[in-house]
Amino acid sequence: MTRHLITTATLLLSTLSLADEYQPDIDNGAFLHAEHCSECHSVPNHEALYTRENRIVQERIRLNGQVSACAQAFSLGWFPDEEQDVSAYLNETYYRFPK
Ligand code: HEC
Repeated sequence: MTRHLITTATLLLSTLSLADEYQPDIDNGAFLHAEHCSECHSVPNHEALYTRENRIVQERIRLNGQVSACAQAFSLGWFPDEEQDVSAYLNETYYRFPK
């Protein structure tokens, strides 16, 4: 048990320290989004949340924050790299901010 916790903590730390260099996996982001977020966001009208005129997210950096907030609101317990995969997927598919 302790060992498992240490491994998890080490993984988490190395994920955090590598955050700058992490290359998001967009396919994984699409999968996670379909699995956990589509309830509200992939029904045709709700997808429009991402593209509506007065959408909340107006900057690439804010997209990470919003994805993280939604993931926490639903207690998904995502790792930072999973959140990044999903924001990368949303950016690629809807927001289209420059990288
Ligand atoms: C229970 C329904 C529901 C679920 C599940 C949900 N969302 Fe949302 N989400 C919303 C609603 C409603 C808004 C619009 C909030 C507003 O306009 O104030 C929103 C807004 C957003 C936005 C900002 C859209 C904008 O205006 O730019 C993002 C990004 C987002 N959600 C991502 C996610 C992600 C990622 C997940 C999965 C972890 C998720 N959401 C799960 C309902 C949901």
